Amino acid sequence: MPKTIYILNGPNLNLLGQREPEIYGTTTLADIEVACAGKCTTAGYDMSFHQSNIEGEIVEQIQEAGRKGVAVIINAAAYTHTSVAIYDALKTLNIPVIEVHISQPASRESFRQQSFIAPVATGSISGFGTNSYLLAIDAAIDILK
Ligand code: DQA
Repeated sequence: MPKTIYILNGPNLNLLGQREPEIYGTTTLADIEVACAGKCTTAGYDMSFHQSNIEGEIVEQIQEAGRKGVAVIINAAAYTHTSVAIYDALKTLNIPVIEVHISQPASRESFRQQSFIAPVATGSISGFGTNSYLLAIDAAIDILK
């Protein structure tokens, strides 16, 4: 039975590489996917990597992760700060949930200070650029050991 880590990405992360590079860098989401896949494979896990600009699709992916996955790594992007639906979906899970951000939202605008993900996450990793994803995989694998 393959053990699958779900890595879920929210709105506008499809634009990584072009979007505000002074904040998010020049690495694309495709680059992140390749790096994450390599790390998961090396550790003996499958990876299911998704991005959506649509809140309900992210909810569907979280529900699928609950049925088929062993951990969720989620960068909910702007929905981090707004989405009760994503909060509710994550709350139903009985597997580790790692919140990820490329930037450090706590040091940015006041509307980014609230996270609907943090209260239902096992832990949060922010501010390490796209390396935050790889650190999150390490954290998930460590918990799953
Ligand atoms: C982000 C931070 C969010 O505040 C923002 O809306 C994003 C990206 C990050 O990875 O730093 O879209 O989640």
